[in-house]
Amino acid sequence: MSKLPILIRKSETLKEKPDPNNLLFGRIFTDHMFIADYTEGLGWHDHRIVPYEPITLDPAAIVFHYGQTVFEGLKAFASKEGTIRLFRPEENMKRLNRSNERMCIPQINEELALDALNQLLELDKDWIPTAEGTSLYIRPFIIATESHLGVSSAKEYKFMIILSPVGSYYKEGIHPVKILVENNFVRAVAGGTGNAKTAGNYASALKAQEVADREGYSQVLWLDGLEKKYIEEVGSMNIFFKINGEVVTPALNGSILEGITRKSILELLRYWEMPVTERKISIAEIQEAHANGQLEEVFGTGTAAVISPVGELNWNGHKMVVGNGETGPISKKLYETLTGIQTGKIEDPFDWVVKLEKSLTPQA
Ligand code: COI
Repeated sequence: MSKLPILIRKSETLKEKPDPNNLLFGRIFTDHMFIADYTEGLGWHDHRIVPYEPITLDPAAIVFHYGQTVFEGLKAFASKEGTIRLFRPEENMKRLNRSNERMCIPQINEELALDALNQLLELDKDWIPTAEGTSLYIRPFIIATESHLGVSSAKEYKFMIILSPVGSYYKEGIHPVKILVENNFVRAVAGGTGNAKTAGNYASALKAQEVADREGYSQVLWLDGLEKKYIEEVGSMNIFFKINGEVVTPALNGSILEGITRKSILELLRYWEMPVTERKISIAEIQEAHANGQLEEVFGTGTAAVISPVGELNWNGHKMVVGNGETGPISKKLYETLTGIQTGKIEDPFDWVVKLEKSLTPQA
């Protein structure tokens, strides 16, 4: 990998590390961050790693008004031998560029972005938590910084990477979550931005999320935006069902996010020679499978969510309790295999993990 010339300004005071056994998701950030600027005619320039600190933007920056921004989420793990392991990082950089293309943001050089991440991790590697179920969440993102109130794509951007030591995304941890099927609002339609990782998709989901929270559900399950009939995704994760021995997940249709964990789970299930299909799935079919006793397991997949078993789905007041509200065997096996590969406890037959040469400072 090429070494990108990056100016490094180290933090003079290092922050205290959090208790690895009580980590929440995305609340604490490490000592440093990466920034590069883009100016039309000049391209990406001024690559730098600086202390983690607030940034100054013009109040008229396009990102504030028209949401021209994209982001990614990936994780670094510490193996017990003390090496840093990244899970399929090149897939995230590829997807970042696909989102860039949709949002009229200039492409980044994926190899250089990975090199920048590598250099950032070199500095903040001691922030990778080692407790069971924890990792260092990596958030690359790009914002349109040009000040202009006319609606047009910006001529100036910032690409940044920040790092956050995290525990489980859901308060339930690896225990099953309850999901409310959303009948009123919609998340996306094909041709919109649903398959890009852009802020607007998440902002438009907040209203439904609030309703779900009030009713005691962790998340909402989105149906298609045209007929509200077919299952799409959960917003923070893709969704899988095990019906009568077969695992099914909604096919990518232009409005669903192309999850990297989703892709990995499909590859893993096919490697195990389990019957698995990507297709249109109606919510009525799920209700019928539940009524017939054929809905064996439901689980979500995502970088933040990992494998998140679903213990209950509520569609229009019809409560479907799945597997007695307990984690099913496939969800458990997938969770253990995926996290085992990520942390190095299990052999990685797919070459998914990128190991960084640097080794961690031994933990006390
Ligand atoms: C991730 O899984 O990395 C995501 O970006 C989802 C986000 C809602 C935390």
